[in-house]
Amino acid sequence: MTQVQKLPIVVLISGSGSNLQAIIDGAAADLPVEIRAVISNRADAFGLERAQRAAIPTRILDHTNYPDRETYDRALVELIDSFQPGLVILAGFMRILTPALVNHFQGKLLNIHPSLLPKYRGLHTHQRALEAGDPVHGASVHLVTEELDGGPVILQVRVPIEPGDDESTLAARVLTQEHQIYPRVIRWFAEGRLRVTAGSIELDGQPLQGPIVMEFNQLNAV
Ligand code: GAR
Repeated sequence: MTQVQKLPIVVLISGSGSNLQAIIDGAAADLPVEIRAVISNRADAFGLERAQRAAIPTRILDHTNYPDRETYDRALVELIDSFQPGLVILAGFMRILTPALVNHFQGKLLNIHPSLLPKYRGLHTHQRALEAGDPVHGASVHLVTEELDGGPVILQVRVPIEPGDDESTLAARVLTQEHQIYPRVIRWFAEGRLRVTAGSIELDGQPLQGPIVMEFNQLNAV
């Protein structure tokens, strides 16, 4: 059997880290990544415990110790670079990034956002979808560019809004699907199926014209 080279990754979190857990679980199975470090801007992020349980190095870089965003992001770039990742994963990292950081990791910085982008960039996406009376909500995995939640979407999943949903029931349903789509895109990247150049994104040698869309609980479709 040919041994697939594992892609070194660094995961950035601010909170619970359930997406991180999905990646940890994937890596313990057959997702070809090596999680070199988990970095949090908050010392109380539960995701740090998840990483420690999996014997992954953790670092806390507390933004409140820095005078401004630029200084913080410079330190963050240096810390991430010290682990020499081939891909940087934002998994509930709740910070606006400076252009300097985004450009430094251009083409190898992924984010997951809980909405069907370009709908509902920013915060409170579940509440906004409910208030708008949308029948369908979802989540998107996208490349990070300087525009907040505005980079090209690679894969998104549509999640039905059920009668009686509130913010927490809807968020929980969306999260189950986030845990499916994020490892999937990371796998494509790690296996060299997803290629990002300055001008285009290719999956299996074909330019991606728009997001790949999957339906709720239909991961096998992509
Ligand atoms: C996820 O729903 C993720 O999509 C969202 O934060 C949550 C983190 O959950 N990210 C954003 O809103 C980024 N704009 P987790 O810590 O359990 O993975």
